[in-house]
Amino acid sequence: MSDETMKHREVRTSRVKRGAVVLGLIVLALVVALSTAGCGKKKSSTSTTSAMGNCKLSVFSWWTGGGEAAGLDALIKIWNKDNPDCPFVNETVAGGAGSNAKAVLAKRLQNNNPPDSFQGHAGKELLDYIKADQIEPIDFIYNDNGFRDVMPKTLLDQISYKGHLYSVPVNIHRANILWYSPSVLKKAGIATPPKTWDEFIAALDKAKAAGVIPLAVGEQWTQQHLLETVMIGALGADGWANLWVKGADWSGAGVTKALDRYKTLLTTYTNSDSATLTWQDAGKLVVDGKAAFNIMGDWQDGYFSGSLKGDNLAKKPNVDYGWVAVPDTDGVFDWLSDSFTLPKGAPHRDAAVKWLGFLGSKQAQDTFNPLKGSIPARTDTDPSLYDAYLQWNLEQWKNDQLACSLTHGCAASNAWTADIGTALGLFLQDKDVAKFQNALVKAAKKYSATN
Ligand code: GAL
Repeated sequence: MSDETMKHREVRTSRVKRGAVVLGLIVLALVVALSTAGCGKKKSSTSTTSAMGNCKLSVFSWWTGGGEAAGLDALIKIWNKDNPDCPFVNETVAGGAGSNAKAVLAKRLQNNNPPDSFQGHAGKELLDYIKADQIEPIDFIYNDNGFRDVMPKTLLDQISYKGHLYSVPVNIHRANILWYSPSVLKKAGIATPPKTWDEFIAALDKAKAAGVIPLAVGEQWTQQHLLETVMIGALGADGWANLWVKGADWSGAGVTKALDRYKTLLTTYTNSDSATLTWQDAGKLVVDGKAAFNIMGDWQDGYFSGSLKGDNLAKKPNVDYGWVAVPDTDGVFDWLSDSFTLPKGAPHRDAAVKWLGFLGSKQAQDTFNPLKGSIPARTDTDPSLYDAYLQWNLEQWKNDQLACSLTHGCAASNAWTADIGTALGLFLQDKDVAKFQNALVKAAKKYSATN
């Protein structure tokens, strides 16, 4: 049993003993109190039901639209029903991929004003919080809930540091998906969705000739997402993995080839209003028949499908939209995982512990993921609850080679990612491949040793 578990049990036992001596009624009150979220000050033996009245669970994420909000809302409903004395406070900050949220969170953590739990990607993004001493190890939650036995080792490795676990993953997402409109492909004379780079260019040319946007893109982070998938296609999963190790060399011909390809896409085949579009806007151009393709993560499935919960589109997979791996990445799974943490100094720590135990449960994962458009982090969930896309992806996850996502926190520290983002911002202005590659080489030199 972990120290933490012992501590929890000791507190409970001593409380009950005292209660039994004083009055049977107090015992009853304690039992009722302990069966709820367990809020109030952790070490206070005098916490009463009025302290419970002050309990709330503040959870920080960037899930505000499409399937993201629908999935979160479903979890909130269950939480509020099961914990009427500790209502959920939804502290979301809009902006896909945490483009705004991460800065807001960093400020809050700096000011010692953490939420009770926050979203952090498995991998190097999480490592930043661990190294900055901002989150607690939570092995005891894994021990108490048996999560180690039902979550893949690859994933647990990305949320562990020095032998301790630091977050609870709620899902696994895939970034390298080429979404397409079957009706637009038909209209443009594209017989099958492209699998290779050459087929991709041929298809984009046909879409252009048919008068639709060949490849819909949105604001800058979505263009970084596009870049990452093009790079994985050009370099392969091993070549990609080599970019994130100590001493990584970004000056090679493989990177140049990837950047040239990327430039081709941006200068010839994308919409000119990209900077003003969210990932949902860009995806909607596809299902509305205005664009042929969009490269985005599988949260797009949560947005496209569903039954008009929130603002998702209630479209049918394989009918209104289709998907394949991004050209040249078949057999590679560019992955990421949304996980939730226990910040140091969480105002309602016991409630946060309960939330994390809930998040890892089969009930939470099978409620959230079919709406969110992700596959569960657990291996023992019910596949029949998932739509055609997600069932396909469940199989891919079992067999594909894994590649760690850059844009979604797996591959690089926040500082390295930020430098890449700055270099990309300049490239989007001047489209100078050599200059861009130089900046990427420099960033790798600066950060690869400590990544
Ligand atoms: C990712 C996140 C996903 C999804 C996406 C778009 O970073 O892991 O859950 O929210 O951003 O916002």
